[in-house]
Amino acid sequence: MIDRLPEVAARLAPVFRAAGFTVDGVAEALGAEAGAALDRGEPEPARRSLPDAGPFPVLVRLFLLSEAVTPDEATAAFAPVRVDELVDAELLRRTDGGIAAGLDLRPHADEHGSWWVLSDLDHGADKATEHVLGAGAASMSLARATVRREVGTLLDLGAGCGVQTLHCSGHAASLTATDVSERANTLARATFAISGVDVEVLTGPWWEPVAGRRYDQIVCNPPFVPGPPAVEHVYRDAGLGGDGASALLVSSLPGFLTPGGVGQLLASWLITGADLAAAEEPGTGWQARPRRWLADAAAAAAPGGLDAWVVQRDVADPALHVGTWLRDAGVDPASPAGRARTAEWLDFFAAHDVVGIGFGFVTLRRTGGGGTVVCEDMRQAIGDPLGGEVEAWLDRVAWLRGHDLLDEPLVAPPTTALERGYTGDDEGWRRIGGTLVRLDGPQWRHDLDDLGEALIAGCRGYLPLSDLLGLLAVAHGRDVDELTAAALPVVRELFLHGLLVPRTPS
Ligand SMILES: C[S@@+](CC[C@H](N)C(=O)[O-])C[C@H]1O[C@@H](n2cnc3c(N)ncnc32)[C@H](O)[C@@H]1O
Repeated sequence: MIDRLPEVAARLAPVFRAAGFTVDGVAEALGAEAGAALDRGEPEPARRSLPDAGPFPVLVRLFLLSEAVTPDEATAAFAPVRVDELVDAELLRRTDGGIAAGLDLRPHADEHGSWWVLSDLDHGADKATEHVLGAGAASMSLARATVRREVGTLLDLGAGCGVQTLHCSGHAASLTATDVSERANTLARATFAISGVDVEVLTGPWWEPVAGRRYDQIVCNPPFVPGPPAVEHVYRDAGLGGDGASALLVSSLPGFLTPGGVGQLLASWLITGADLAAAEEPGTGWQARPRRWLADAAAAAAPGGLDAWVVQRDVADPALHVGTWLRDAGVDPASPAGRARTAEWLDFFAAHDVVGIGFGFVTLRRTGGGGTVVCEDMRQAIGDPLGGEVEAWLDRVAWLRGHDLLDEPLVAPPTTALERGYTGDDEGWRRIGGTLVRLDGPQWRHDLDDLGEALIAGCRGYLPLSDLLGLLAVAHGRDVDELTAAALPVVRELFLHGLLVPRTPS
Protein backbone atom coordinates (compact mmCIF):
# COMPACT_ATOMS: atom_id res chain seq x y z
CA MET A 1 0.00 0.00 0.00
CA ILE A 2 1.91 2.98 -1.27
CA ASP A 3 -0.56 5.24 0.59
CA ARG A 4 1.34 4.38 3.80
CA LEU A 5 4.59 5.70 2.32
CA PRO A 6 4.43 9.33 3.59
CA GLU A 7 3.87 8.23 7.20
CA VAL A 8 6.67 5.65 7.09
CA ALA A 9 8.99 8.04 5.25
CA ALA A 10 8.63 10.63 8.03
CA ARG A 11 10.10 8.10 10.48
CA LEU A 12 13.10 7.43 8.26
CA ALA A 13 14.60 10.92 8.52
CA PRO A 14 16.32 10.37 11.90
CA VAL A 15 17.53 6.93 10.74
CA PHE A 16 19.11 8.39 7.60
CA ARG A 17 20.59 11.35 9.47
CA ALA A 18 22.15 9.09 12.10
CA ALA A 19 23.61 6.88 9.35
CA GLY A 20 25.05 9.88 7.51
CA PHE A 21 22.95 9.07 4.42
CA THR A 22 22.92 12.71 3.28
CA VAL A 23 24.43 14.55 0.31
CA ASP A 24 27.44 15.55 2.42
CA GLY A 25 27.78 12.09 3.98
CA VAL A 26 27.71 10.35 0.60
CA ALA A 27 30.13 12.84 -0.96
CA GLU A 28 32.55 12.44 1.92
CA ALA A 29 32.45 8.63 1.91
CA LEU A 30 32.69 8.20 -1.85
CA GLY A 31 35.15 10.97 -2.63
CA ALA A 32 35.17 12.99 -5.85
CA GLU A 33 36.29 10.26 -8.25
CA ALA A 34 33.90 7.52 -7.17
CA GLY A 35 31.10 10.12 -6.89
CA ALA A 36 31.73 11.27 -10.47
CA ALA A 37 31.87 7.63 -11.65
CA LEU A 38 28.51 6.97 -10.00
CA ASP A 39 27.03 10.01 -11.77
CA ARG A 40 28.25 8.45 -15.03
CA GLY A 41 26.38 5.23 -14.19
CA GLU A 42 29.51 3.32 -13.06
CA PRO A 43 28.74 1.93 -9.56
CA GLU A 44 31.81 -0.22 -8.85
CA PRO A 45 34.21 2.58 -7.76
CA ALA A 46 31.54 3.76 -5.29
CA ARG A 47 31.05 0.20 -3.99
CA ARG A 48 34.79 -0.04 -3.28
CA SER A 49 34.77 3.29 -1.40
CA LEU A 50 32.13 2.20 1.10
CA PRO A 51 32.97 1.31 4.68
CA ASP A 52 32.51 -2.41 5.48
CA ALA A 53 30.01 -2.17 8.31
CA GLY A 54 27.07 -0.12 9.57
CA PRO A 55 23.80 1.19 8.12
CA PHE A 56 25.45 3.70 5.75
CA PRO A 57 26.89 1.21 3.20
CA VAL A 58 23.62 -0.75 3.24
CA LEU A 59 21.59 2.38 2.42
CA VAL A 60 24.01 3.41 -0.33
CA ARG A 61 23.99 -0.07 -1.87
CA LEU A 62 20.19 -0.24 -1.80
CA PHE A 63 19.32 3.21 -3.05
CA LEU A 64 22.31 4.49 -5.01
CA LEU A 65 23.92 1.31 -6.37
CA SER A 66 20.67 -0.64 -7.08
CA GLU A 67 21.95 -3.70 -5.15
CA ALA A 68 19.96 -6.16 -3.09
CA VAL A 69 21.06 -6.57 0.55
CA THR A 70 20.36 -9.36 3.02
CA PRO A 71 17.25 -9.17 5.25
CA ASP A 72 19.51 -8.89 8.31
CA GLU A 73 21.44 -5.99 6.82
CA ALA A 74 18.19 -4.22 5.95
CA THR A 75 16.70 -4.83 9.40
CA ALA A 76 19.75 -3.31 11.08
CA ALA A 77 20.00 -0.36 8.66
CA PHE A 78 16.36 0.79 9.01
CA ALA A 79 15.78 0.08 12.72
CA PRO A 80 13.60 1.13 14.49
CA VAL A 81 11.50 1.23 11.28
CA ARG A 82 10.63 -2.35 10.35
CA VAL A 83 11.48 -3.83 6.97
CA ASP A 84 7.98 -5.30 6.56
CA GLU A 85 6.49 -1.80 6.98
CA LEU A 86 8.81 -0.52 4.27
CA VAL A 87 7.93 -3.41 1.97
CA ASP A 88 4.25 -2.78 2.64
CA ALA A 89 4.73 0.92 1.76
CA GLU A 90 6.52 -0.19 -1.44
CA LEU A 91 9.79 1.57 -0.60
CA LEU A 92 11.47 -1.85 -0.43
CA ARG A 93 10.69 -5.13 -2.18
CA ARG A 94 11.67 -8.70 -1.45
CA THR A 95 13.85 -10.43 -4.04
CA ASP A 96 15.14 -14.04 -4.04
CA GLY A 97 16.30 -14.14 -0.45
CA GLY A 98 17.18 -10.44 -0.35
CA ILE A 99 15.78 -6.92 -0.06
CA ALA A 100 15.96 -4.34 -2.87
CA ALA A 101 14.69 -0.80 -3.38
CA GLY A 102 11.12 -0.54 -4.64
CA LEU A 103 11.41 3.18 -5.28
CA ASP A 104 14.18 5.65 -6.01
CA LEU A 105 15.20 7.47 -2.85
CA ARG A 106 18.24 9.71 -2.75
CA PRO A 107 19.66 12.57 -0.72
CA HIS A 108 19.31 15.98 -2.38
CA ALA A 109 20.54 19.41 -1.31
CA ASP A 110 21.29 22.97 -2.32
CA GLU A 111 23.09 25.75 -0.47
CA HIS A 112 19.98 26.34 1.69
CA GLY A 113 18.72 22.88 2.55
CA SER A 114 19.32 19.15 2.70
CA TRP A 115 16.52 16.70 1.89
CA TRP A 116 15.63 13.30 0.38
CA VAL A 117 13.63 12.83 -2.82
CA LEU A 118 11.43 9.82 -3.58
CA SER A 119 10.47 8.95 -7.15
CA ASP A 120 9.95 5.90 -9.33
CA LEU A 121 12.85 3.62 -10.17
CA ASP A 122 14.05 4.16 -13.70
CA HIS A 123 13.94 0.76 -15.40
CA GLY A 124 14.54 2.28 -18.81
CA ALA A 125 12.04 0.92 -21.30
CA ASP A 126 9.13 -0.05 -19.07
CA LYS A 127 8.08 3.33 -17.75
CA ALA A 128 4.44 3.28 -16.65
CA THR A 129 2.04 5.99 -17.78
CA GLU A 130 2.14 7.50 -14.29
CA HIS A 131 5.92 7.11 -13.92
CA VAL A 132 7.12 9.76 -11.46
CA LEU A 133 10.42 11.30 -12.46
CA GLY A 134 13.19 12.09 -10.01
CA ALA A 135 15.26 15.28 -9.99
CA GLY A 136 16.53 15.16 -13.58
CA ALA A 137 18.40 17.63 -15.75
CA ALA A 138 15.27 19.60 -16.72
CA SER A 139 14.16 19.78 -13.06
CA MET A 140 17.53 21.11 -12.01
CA SER A 141 17.68 23.64 -14.85
CA LEU A 142 14.40 25.16 -13.59
CA ALA A 143 15.58 24.99 -9.97
CA ARG A 144 18.73 26.90 -10.95
CA ALA A 145 16.70 29.48 -12.90
CA THR A 146 14.22 30.13 -10.09
CA VAL A 147 14.04 33.53 -8.42
CA ARG A 148 14.92 33.00 -4.76
CA ARG A 149 13.61 36.18 -3.15
CA GLU A 150 11.52 35.79 -0.02
CA VAL A 151 7.80 35.42 -0.72
CA GLY A 152 4.67 34.57 1.25
CA THR A 153 2.89 32.02 -0.96
CA LEU A 154 4.34 29.75 -3.62
CA LEU A 155 2.71 27.24 -5.99
CA ASP A 156 4.58 24.37 -7.68
CA LEU A 157 2.27 23.20 -10.49
CA GLY A 158 3.03 19.71 -11.83
CA ALA A 159 5.16 19.07 -8.77
CA GLY A 160 5.90 15.39 -9.51
CA CYS A 161 8.32 14.11 -6.87
CA GLY A 162 8.32 17.59 -5.27
CA VAL A 163 11.84 18.67 -6.09
CA GLN A 164 11.00 22.27 -7.09
CA THR A 165 8.99 22.72 -3.88
CA LEU A 166 11.97 21.56 -1.82
CA HIS A 167 14.25 24.12 -3.45
CA CYS A 168 11.65 26.82 -2.78
CA SER A 169 11.21 25.88 0.88
CA GLY A 170 14.02 28.20 1.93
CA HIS A 171 12.44 31.38 0.58
CA ALA A 172 8.66 30.80 0.57
CA ALA A 173 6.64 30.92 3.79
CA SER A 174 3.75 28.81 2.51
CA LEU A 175 4.06 26.08 -0.13
CA THR A 176 1.42 24.43 -2.33
CA ALA A 177 2.24 21.55 -4.69
CA THR A 178 -0.25 20.23 -7.25
CA ASP A 179 -0.20 17.39 -9.75
CA VAL A 180 -2.73 15.59 -11.88
CA SER A 181 -1.17 12.26 -10.86
CA GLU A 182 -2.24 10.78 -7.53
CA ARG A 183 0.90 8.60 -7.58
CA ALA A 184 3.09 11.69 -8.03
CA ASN A 185 1.34 13.34 -5.10
CA THR A 186 1.86 10.31 -2.89
CA LEU A 187 5.57 10.33 -3.66
CA ALA A 188 5.69 14.10 -3.18
CA ARG A 189 4.01 13.74 0.23
CA ALA A 190 6.66 11.16 1.13
CA THR A 191 9.43 13.47 -0.13
CA PHE A 192 8.07 16.32 2.02
CA ALA A 193 7.50 14.07 5.05
CA ILE A 194 11.01 12.62 5.08
CA SER A 195 12.49 16.07 4.37
CA GLY A 196 10.49 17.76 7.13
CA VAL A 197 8.98 20.36 4.77
CA ASP A 198 5.41 21.48 5.35
CA VAL A 199 3.50 21.55 2.03
CA GLU A 200 -0.16 21.62 1.00
CA VAL A 201 -0.50 18.91 -1.68
CA LEU A 202 -3.50 19.08 -4.04
CA THR A 203 -4.57 16.79 -6.88
CA GLY A 204 -6.04 17.86 -10.20
CA PRO A 205 -5.25 19.11 -13.69
CA TRP A 206 -3.69 22.49 -14.48
CA TRP A 207 -5.23 25.31 -12.38
CA GLU A 208 -8.26 23.34 -11.22
CA PRO A 209 -6.99 22.60 -7.67
CA VAL A 210 -6.14 26.28 -7.06
CA ALA A 211 -9.08 27.93 -8.84
CA GLY A 212 -9.68 31.42 -7.47
CA ARG A 213 -6.35 31.61 -5.61
CA ARG A 214 -3.36 33.87 -6.21
CA TYR A 215 0.29 33.22 -5.40
CA ASP A 216 3.33 35.44 -4.90
CA GLN A 217 5.40 32.99 -6.89
CA ILE A 218 4.63 30.09 -9.23
CA VAL A 219 7.13 27.54 -10.51
CA CYS A 220 6.20 24.93 -13.06
CA ASN A 221 8.05 22.20 -14.93
CA PRO A 222 5.08 20.95 -16.95
CA PRO A 223 4.69 18.07 -19.39
CA PHE A 224 5.89 20.49 -22.06
CA VAL A 225 7.05 18.04 -24.76
CA PRO A 226 5.24 18.79 -28.05
CA GLY A 227 3.77 15.79 -29.81
CA PRO A 228 0.49 14.22 -30.93
CA PRO A 229 -2.51 14.62 -28.60
CA ALA A 230 -2.05 11.48 -26.49
CA VAL A 231 -0.74 10.81 -22.98
CA GLU A 232 1.80 8.01 -23.09
CA HIS A 233 3.71 9.33 -20.08
CA VAL A 234 2.10 11.86 -17.77
CA TYR A 235 5.47 13.48 -16.96
CA ARG A 236 6.02 14.22 -20.66
CA ASP A 237 2.69 14.50 -22.49
CA ALA A 238 -0.08 16.96 -21.78
CA GLY A 239 -2.50 15.23 -24.14
CA LEU A 240 -3.37 18.61 -25.64
CA GLY A 241 -1.46 18.14 -28.90
CA GLY A 242 1.48 20.19 -30.14
CA ASP A 243 2.68 22.78 -27.64
CA GLY A 244 -0.71 22.94 -25.91
CA ALA A 245 0.65 22.62 -22.35
CA SER A 246 3.00 25.59 -22.75
CA ALA A 247 0.30 27.61 -24.52
CA LEU A 248 -2.24 26.96 -21.77
CA LEU A 249 0.12 27.68 -18.90
CA VAL A 250 1.85 30.79 -20.30
CA SER A 251 -1.49 32.31 -21.40
CA SER A 252 -3.21 31.87 -18.06
CA LEU A 253 -0.46 31.97 -15.42
CA PRO A 254 -0.59 35.73 -14.66
CA GLY A 255 -4.23 35.34 -13.57
CA PHE A 256 -2.95 33.28 -10.62
CA LEU A 257 -0.30 35.78 -9.48
CA THR A 258 -0.66 38.43 -6.80
CA PRO A 259 0.38 41.95 -7.89
CA GLY A 260 4.16 41.86 -8.23
CA GLY A 261 4.09 38.04 -8.27
CA VAL A 262 6.49 36.12 -10.49
CA GLY A 263 5.88 32.88 -12.39
CA GLN A 264 8.53 30.79 -14.04
CA LEU A 265 8.17 27.74 -16.21
CA LEU A 266 9.96 25.53 -18.65
CA ALA A 267 8.17 25.69 -21.98
CA SER A 268 8.40 24.49 -25.55
CA TRP A 269 7.02 26.03 -28.74
CA LEU A 270 6.45 24.77 -32.24
CA ILE A 271 8.27 26.69 -34.97
CA THR A 272 6.32 26.58 -38.21
CA GLY A 273 7.46 27.22 -41.76
CA ALA A 274 4.75 29.88 -42.08
CA ASP A 275 5.96 31.74 -38.97
CA LEU A 276 9.55 31.69 -40.23
CA ALA A 277 8.46 33.02 -43.62
CA ALA A 278 6.35 35.80 -42.05
CA ALA A 279 9.09 37.01 -39.67
CA GLU A 280 10.06 40.64 -40.26
CA GLU A 281 13.58 40.14 -38.90
CA PRO A 282 15.72 37.07 -39.54
CA GLY A 283 15.98 34.75 -36.55
CA THR A 284 12.75 35.94 -34.92
CA GLY A 285 10.23 33.54 -36.52
CA TRP A 286 10.34 31.24 -33.48
CA GLN A 287 8.82 34.02 -31.37
CA ALA A 288 5.48 33.98 -33.19
CA ARG A 289 3.75 31.42 -30.98
CA PRO A 290 5.14 32.56 -27.58
CA ARG A 291 4.18 36.14 -28.49
CA ARG A 292 0.60 35.05 -29.19
CA TRP A 293 0.47 33.35 -25.78
CA LEU A 294 1.91 36.48 -24.17
CA ALA A 295 -0.92 38.58 -25.63
CA ASP A 296 -3.35 36.31 -23.74
CA ALA A 297 -1.07 36.42 -20.68
CA ALA A 298 -1.24 40.23 -20.71
CA ALA A 299 -5.02 39.99 -20.74
CA ALA A 300 -4.86 37.56 -17.79
CA ALA A 301 -2.69 40.06 -15.88
CA ALA A 302 -5.22 42.90 -16.33
CA PRO A 303 -5.92 45.31 -14.71
CA GLY A 304 -2.19 45.02 -13.92
CA GLY A 305 0.53 44.91 -16.56
CA LEU A 306 2.90 42.13 -17.56
CA ASP A 307 6.66 41.78 -17.69
CA ALA A 308 7.60 38.74 -19.75
CA TRP A 309 10.99 37.32 -20.58
CA VAL A 310 11.10 34.32 -22.91
CA VAL A 311 14.55 32.87 -23.48
CA GLN A 312 15.02 30.21 -26.11
CA ARG A 313 17.79 27.88 -24.90
CA ASP A 314 17.63 25.29 -27.66
CA VAL A 315 16.01 24.40 -30.95
CA ALA A 316 15.62 20.85 -32.24
CA ASP A 317 14.51 19.74 -35.69
CA PRO A 318 11.50 17.38 -35.60
CA ALA A 319 13.60 14.21 -36.04
CA LEU A 320 16.01 15.17 -33.26
CA HIS A 321 13.10 16.09 -30.99
CA VAL A 322 11.29 12.78 -31.49
CA GLY A 323 14.46 10.68 -31.16
CA THR A 324 15.47 12.51 -27.97
CA TRP A 325 12.13 12.07 -26.25
CA LEU A 326 11.64 8.46 -27.33
CA ARG A 327 15.07 7.60 -25.90
CA ASP A 328 14.20 9.57 -22.76
CA ALA A 329 11.20 7.26 -22.27
CA GLY A 330 13.40 4.21 -22.86
CA VAL A 331 12.15 3.54 -26.42
CA ASP A 332 14.81 2.63 -28.99
CA PRO A 333 13.97 4.69 -32.13
CA ALA A 334 15.39 1.82 -34.24
CA SER A 335 13.00 -0.78 -32.77
CA PRO A 336 9.76 -1.53 -34.66
CA ALA A 337 7.76 0.24 -31.92
CA GLY A 338 10.20 3.19 -31.99
CA ARG A 339 9.94 3.52 -35.75
CA ALA A 340 6.14 3.42 -35.67
CA ARG A 341 6.05 6.04 -32.93
CA THR A 342 8.57 8.22 -34.79
CA ALA A 343 6.42 8.03 -37.93
CA GLU A 344 3.36 9.09 -35.93
CA TRP A 345 5.12 12.11 -34.38
CA LEU A 346 6.73 13.19 -37.64
CA ASP A 347 3.38 12.91 -39.46
CA PHE A 348 1.83 15.11 -36.77
CA PHE A 349 4.57 17.72 -37.14
CA ALA A 350 4.41 17.62 -40.95
CA ALA A 351 0.62 18.08 -40.85
CA HIS A 352 1.14 21.20 -38.70
CA ASP A 353 3.95 22.70 -40.80
CA VAL A 354 6.40 22.26 -37.89
CA VAL A 355 10.02 22.72 -38.90
CA GLY A 356 11.54 23.09 -35.43
CA ILE A 357 10.79 22.82 -31.73
CA GLY A 358 12.10 25.55 -29.44
CA PHE A 359 12.66 25.09 -25.73
CA GLY A 360 13.45 27.49 -22.94
CA PHE A 361 12.42 29.44 -19.86
CA VAL A 362 9.47 31.79 -19.50
CA THR A 363 9.38 34.36 -16.69
CA LEU A 364 6.17 36.34 -16.10
CA ARG A 365 5.58 39.11 -13.58
CA ARG A 366 2.26 40.75 -12.88
CA THR A 367 3.02 44.45 -12.53
CA GLY A 368 1.04 47.32 -11.05
CA GLY A 369 0.85 48.79 -14.57
CA GLY A 370 2.98 48.78 -17.71
CA GLY A 371 5.26 46.00 -18.76
CA THR A 372 8.15 44.86 -20.89
CA VAL A 373 8.01 41.83 -23.17
CA VAL A 374 11.27 40.37 -24.46
CA CYS A 375 11.69 37.15 -26.45
CA GLU A 376 15.29 36.33 -27.22
CA ASP A 377 17.69 33.54 -28.01
CA MET A 378 20.08 32.50 -25.24
CA ARG A 379 21.63 29.46 -26.83
CA GLN A 380 25.16 30.24 -25.63
CA ALA A 381 26.65 28.45 -22.64
CA ILE A 382 25.89 30.38 -19.46
CA GLY A 383 28.34 30.82 -16.63
CA ASP A 384 26.19 31.07 -13.51
CA PRO A 385 22.80 29.69 -12.50
CA LEU A 386 20.15 31.64 -14.42
CA GLY A 387 18.18 32.57 -11.28
CA GLY A 388 20.38 35.55 -10.42
CA GLU A 389 20.07 36.83 -13.98
CA VAL A 390 16.28 36.50 -13.92
CA GLU A 391 16.19 38.55 -10.72
CA ALA A 392 18.48 41.15 -12.31
CA TRP A 393 16.35 41.25 -15.49
CA LEU A 394 13.18 41.86 -13.45
CA ASP A 395 14.97 44.66 -11.59
CA ARG A 396 16.25 46.19 -14.82
CA VAL A 397 12.83 46.37 -16.49
CA ALA A 398 11.31 47.83 -13.31
CA TRP A 399 14.11 50.44 -13.19
CA LEU A 400 13.54 51.35 -16.85
CA ARG A 401 9.88 52.09 -16.09
CA GLY A 402 10.92 54.72 -13.57
CA HIS A 403 13.84 56.32 -15.42
CA ASP A 404 14.58 58.00 -18.72
CA LEU A 405 17.81 56.49 -20.03
CA LEU A 406 18.85 59.80 -21.59
CA ASP A 407 18.88 61.48 -18.17
CA GLU A 408 20.99 58.77 -16.56
CA PRO A 409 24.74 58.52 -16.09
CA LEU A 410 25.30 54.83 -16.92
CA VAL A 411 28.29 52.67 -16.05
CA ALA A 412 29.96 49.80 -17.93
CA PRO A 413 30.73 47.51 -14.96
CA PRO A 414 33.96 45.48 -14.60
CA THR A 415 32.14 42.44 -16.03
CA THR A 416 31.79 44.26 -19.37
CA ALA A 417 34.76 43.81 -21.69
CA LEU A 418 35.57 44.91 -25.21
CA GLU A 419 36.97 42.30 -27.58
CA ARG A 420 38.58 43.48 -30.79
CA GLY A 421 39.03 41.48 -33.98
CA TYR A 422 41.80 41.99 -36.54
CA THR A 423 42.65 40.49 -39.93
CA GLY A 424 46.13 40.59 -41.41
CA ASP A 425 47.14 42.17 -44.73
CA ASP A 426 50.39 43.57 -46.21
CA GLU A 427 50.19 46.54 -43.87
CA GLY A 428 49.93 44.35 -40.78
CA TRP A 429 46.92 43.81 -38.56
CA ARG A 430 43.78 45.68 -39.61
CA ARG A 431 40.98 46.19 -37.15
CA ILE A 432 37.66 44.74 -38.29
CA GLY A 433 35.35 45.45 -35.36
CA GLY A 434 34.69 45.34 -31.69
CA THR A 435 32.40 43.17 -29.60
CA LEU A 436 31.10 44.04 -26.17
CA VAL A 437 31.14 40.93 -24.01
CA ARG A 438 29.57 40.10 -20.67
CA LEU A 439 32.17 38.13 -18.73
CA ASP A 440 29.69 36.55 -16.31
CA GLY A 441 26.15 35.09 -16.35
CA PRO A 442 24.71 34.76 -19.86
CA GLN A 443 27.94 35.96 -21.51
CA TRP A 444 25.99 38.21 -23.89
CA ARG A 445 27.92 39.51 -26.93
CA HIS A 446 27.12 42.66 -28.95
CA ASP A 447 29.04 43.90 -31.98
CA LEU A 448 29.81 47.62 -31.84
CA ASP A 449 30.92 50.18 -34.40
CA ASP A 450 33.50 52.86 -33.55
CA LEU A 451 30.86 55.31 -32.32
CA GLY A 452 29.35 52.63 -30.14
CA GLU A 453 32.76 51.84 -28.65
CA ALA A 454 33.32 55.53 -27.92
CA LEU A 455 29.88 55.84 -26.32
CA ILE A 456 30.40 52.86 -24.01
CA ALA A 457 33.91 54.09 -23.13
CA GLY A 458 32.23 57.28 -21.90
CA CYS A 459 29.80 55.38 -19.65
CA ARG A 460 31.73 55.92 -16.43
CA GLY A 461 28.84 57.27 -14.37
CA TYR A 462 29.73 60.97 -14.67
CA LEU A 463 27.69 62.31 -17.60
CA PRO A 464 24.06 61.58 -18.44
CA LEU A 465 23.63 59.62 -21.67
CA SER A 466 22.19 62.67 -23.49
CA ASP A 467 25.38 64.69 -22.72
CA LEU A 468 27.58 61.85 -23.96
CA LEU A 469 25.60 61.62 -27.18
CA GLY A 470 25.83 65.41 -27.61
CA LEU A 471 29.65 65.33 -27.25
CA LEU A 472 29.94 62.38 -29.64
CA ALA A 473 27.74 64.09 -32.24
CA VAL A 474 29.95 67.19 -32.18
CA ALA A 475 33.20 65.19 -32.25
CA HIS A 476 32.07 63.06 -35.21
CA GLY A 477 30.07 65.66 -37.11
CA ARG A 478 26.77 63.83 -36.64
CA ASP A 479 23.25 65.11 -36.12
CA VAL A 480 22.53 64.66 -32.41
CA ASP A 481 18.87 63.68 -32.88
CA GLU A 482 19.72 61.02 -35.45
CA LEU A 483 22.55 59.71 -33.30
CA THR A 484 20.26 59.59 -30.26
CA ALA A 485 17.52 57.77 -32.17
CA ALA A 486 20.05 55.18 -33.39
CA ALA A 487 21.80 54.77 -30.04
CA LEU A 488 18.81 54.49 -27.69
CA PRO A 489 17.58 50.99 -28.69
CA VAL A 490 21.18 49.72 -28.55
CA VAL A 491 21.79 51.22 -25.10
CA ARG A 492 18.48 49.83 -23.88
CA GLU A 493 19.44 46.34 -25.03
CA LEU A 494 22.91 46.63 -23.48
CA PHE A 495 21.21 47.73 -20.27
CA LEU A 496 18.78 44.80 -20.31
CA HIS A 497 21.74 42.48 -20.86
CA GLY A 498 23.61 43.89 -17.88
CA LEU A 499 26.44 45.36 -19.98
CA LEU A 500 25.49 48.83 -18.75
CA VAL A 501 24.16 49.47 -15.24
CA PRO A 502 22.79 52.49 -13.39
CA ARG A 503 25.30 54.56 -11.42
CA THR A 504 24.91 53.51 -7.81
CA PRO A 505 24.04 56.49 -5.62
CA SER A 506 27.18 57.67 -3.80
C1 LIG B 1 8.20 17.06 -16.23
S1 LIG B 1 7.35 16.52 -14.80
C2 LIG B 1 8.02 17.66 -13.63
C3 LIG B 1 8.05 17.14 -12.23
C4 LIG B 1 8.77 18.06 -11.23
N1 LIG B 1 8.06 19.31 -11.04
C5 LIG B 1 10.20 18.34 -11.64
O1 LIG B 1 10.53 19.51 -11.82
O2 LIG B 1 10.96 17.40 -11.79
C6 LIG B 1 5.73 17.13 -15.12
C7 LIG B 1 4.72 16.86 -14.03
O3 LIG B 1 3.47 17.42 -14.43
C8 LIG B 1 2.43 16.53 -14.07
N2 LIG B 1 1.29 16.78 -14.96
C9 LIG B 1 1.02 16.25 -16.16
N3 LIG B 1 -0.13 16.73 -16.65
C10 LIG B 1 -0.60 17.59 -15.71
C11 LIG B 1 -1.76 18.39 -15.62
N4 LIG B 1 -2.68 18.40 -16.59
N5 LIG B 1 -1.94 19.15 -14.51
C12 LIG B 1 -1.03 19.14 -13.51
N6 LIG B 1 0.09 18.39 -13.54
C13 LIG B 1 0.30 17.63 -14.64
C14 LIG B 1 3.04 15.16 -14.21
O4 LIG B 1 2.35 14.21 -13.44
C15 LIG B 1 4.48 15.39 -13.75
O5 LIG B 1 4.60 15.15 -12.38
